[in-house]
Order: sequence, then C-alpha cells, then structure tokens
Amino acid sequence: MEIIQEGMSKFYASRDKNGKISKELDVFYNPVMKFNRDVSITLLNVINQSNMQMCDLMAGSGVRSLRFIKELKKGVIGKLVVNDYDEGFIRLFKKNLELNDIDETKSNVYVYSMDANKLLLESTGFDYIDIDPFGSPNDFLENSIVRLSREGILAVTATDTAPLAGTFPDACIRKYWAKPLRNHLMHEIGLRILIRKIQLIGAQHDKALIPMYSYYKDHYFRVFFKCVKGKKECDNILRQHEYLLYCNTCQSFLTSEINQCMCCNQQMEYAGPLWTGQLYDSDIAFKIFKMEKSNSLLKIIADESLIKSIGFYDIHELAKKHKFLIPNYEKLLLELNKLGKSVRTHFSNNGIKSELSVKEILSVLNVLKDK
Ligand SMILES: C[S@@+](CC[C@H](N)C(=O)[O-])C[C@H]1O[C@@H](n2cnc3c(N)ncnc32)[C@H](O)[C@@H]1O
Ligand SMILES: [Zn+2]
Repeated sequence: MEIIQEGMSKFYASRDKNGKISKELDVFYNPVMKFNRDVSITLLNVINQSNMQMCDLMAGSGVRSLRFIKELKKGVIGKLVVNDYDEGFIRLFKKNLELNDIDETKSNVYVYSMDANKLLLESTGFDYIDIDPFGSPNDFLENSIVRLSREGILAVTATDTAPLAGTFPDACIRKYWAKPLRNHLMHEIGLRILIRKIQLIGAQHDKALIPMYSYYKDHYFRVFFKCVKGKKECDNILRQHEYLLYCNTCQSFLTSEINQCMCCNQQMEYAGPLWTGQLYDSDIAFKIFKMEKSNSLLKIIADESLIKSIGFYDIHELAKKHKFLIPNYEKLLLELNKLGKSVRTHFSNNGIKSELSVKEILSVLNVLKDK
C-alpha cells in the first residue's frame, strides 16, 4: 500500500500492476470520484449549517470522511459516523486518522464496520447521510430516509446508469418504477427518474425530498436532497411527477400528466413518470460555482439552474437533419437569448436548454446559416 493525497488528506491505497488505483483492489478508492467529493464538501460549506450529525454510510477508503474532517468549516461537524462493512475497515481508517493527525475523540468521529442498513436501524438518526454504493442505491434508501432528520440532507450517488439511461428499460421499470428513453435526453431523464423514485420512498414517511443540487457526470448520477417533513409538502412533490413526451421527428418535447400525445402525425415517445421540478436550488448552485470559479462544469450547472425547462435540444442532431453547419455555440446562444432564455446544459456537449420552441431554435439556426 502507498500513501495517496486528495484535497487536504492523505490515506493508504494500493495500485494494481499497471499502476492504477482501482476498485478491484483491497481498499476502494476511485480517483475519478474526486469531483463528487469536492462538490459534497463545497455544498456542506456553503449551506451554513452547524453541529450536523453526519454519516458516511459506505466509506471505502474513508477519503470522503477524512476530507470532511479537514476541509469542512469549523463547527459544521457535530458528530461523524464513518462506516464500511469491509473486514479491515476499522483498522485501515484508524491508520488514516493517525496519518492525518486527527484525534478521533476530539473530532467526534465514530468508526464502524457494519452492514449499512443495520447501522442505520440501530442509530438515532442523522442530519446528513451520504449513500455511495457500487451501482444502485436502492437497498439503502428506505432506512436512510427513515433515519434522516426533519430538515436533514440526503446525498445519493447511483452508478448503475445502464437501466436509468435506457440501455435496459425493463430493469429501469423494475428498479426505478419508470420508463427511460435512449436518446440525447437519456441522462436528464435518468436523473429525474432516480429523483422521483427516492421522493416516493420519502413520501411514504411524510418526508418531502427536494433536490438542492443534482448532476450527471462520468457515468454516475448524484443528488443532494433537502428533507422537509410534512404531508402537504409531500403532496406538492407528487404533483410534480409527470411524463416527458418526445417527438423523434421534430425533436420537440413537453411534460404531461398522461403519456400520450401526437406530434408530426405520430405518437410521441414517452419517458417517466419522472420529477419535473427543479434539479437545483440556484442560490446554492451559484455559491458552489463561486467557490471554484475555474470549473466550467460548475458554471454550466449554475447557469442551468436559472432555467425552468425540462429537456434540451441537441444542436448537432438538428443541424444534421436540417442540413445546417454546426454553429459557434457562443454566437448561437447570443442570438437565442434575444428571443428567450437559453443556456448550455451539463447533460450534453451538444445540448442547449432553452425556453424557446424547436421552431424558434430552427429559425435562429437558419439566420446564422447565412452569416
Ligand atoms: C463506491 S465504494 C465507496 C467509496 C467512498 N464513499 C468514497 O468516496 O471513496 C462502496 C463501498 O460500499 C461498501 N459497501 C457495500 N455494501 C455495503 C453494505 N451493505 N454495508 C456497508 N458497506 C457496504 C463497500 O465495501 C465499498 O467500500
Ligand atoms: Zn414533431
């Protein structure tokens, strides 16, 4: 094993024979997920909550918790439970605490090696629970939600994008209770299907789970929910579960309570039911971006948070179909914004989110063609 550094923490991990640090090894550490951890830290630092009872439910190498201890503002952590059912976890994590000069007792850190559900059931509850499993978070949602405090934050990672993004539609229906679509909208649809499923489990316990910040990246989905306890709040969430209808002839889309609608003389395709509300609290999205101004993804998400539209246009597909050259995106956005709010989307490099209809987008593409 060797010592790896991420953020302000050091920890033990091992490399394979090709020099890669990977999930096949004894200690799970995925360097690709650094962004996931960075965002968690920034979010917890910008929301100004203190004395939080926190749980890193499936900690792997423990790097997330080490970074929480080192990088969260003073007073944020009231108590931090760090858990992984891997056999050697307690020994490893204690070594990592030592390596970082962290005193377990003074830092209010509690290390466990238990099955995640057992730990949740035996706990008194948390203000922040981070679910970061291999694949689907399904097995851990119910107990996490039950143990989430009235105004707690639930952070969920899902890496099983194949069902959610429509490669395995039947699996999506079984596991996430909604129909996905395999087209350029698949990642936004997948994220919204995941959100709805988690909200349905929340509603069973009168807990309204409102997305504060959510995104898709590197083949995973990530959502931070704010919990609000209340029946009315849950009803309000459920009213925002609808279908997304899509016309694969003209690329127009809309949300609807029913899954049928005609466009271009044919039935539109549908996805859902899914969450049609906001994916981000835009105040938080801008605060997160301000902490890391050089990160273009955080900027795109912040801009995206200002627009209410669900779905987006694939400009490459439109250009191909209507025989336009692909325009310069800055120029295109400038022109589009004269007619209605339009931004890039983090879901796709070719995507534009816009308040405009496909007809209006095409009219702008047409004008740009001659310039
Ligand atoms: C994706 S890794 C976690 C990575 C870590 N959160 C990070 O940021 O580096 C998933 C971890 O979940 C643990 N795990 C899987 N099922 C579990 C269960 N039922 N209870 C507790 N831990 C579990 C595995 O041992 C593995 O270390
Ligand atoms: Zn159409």
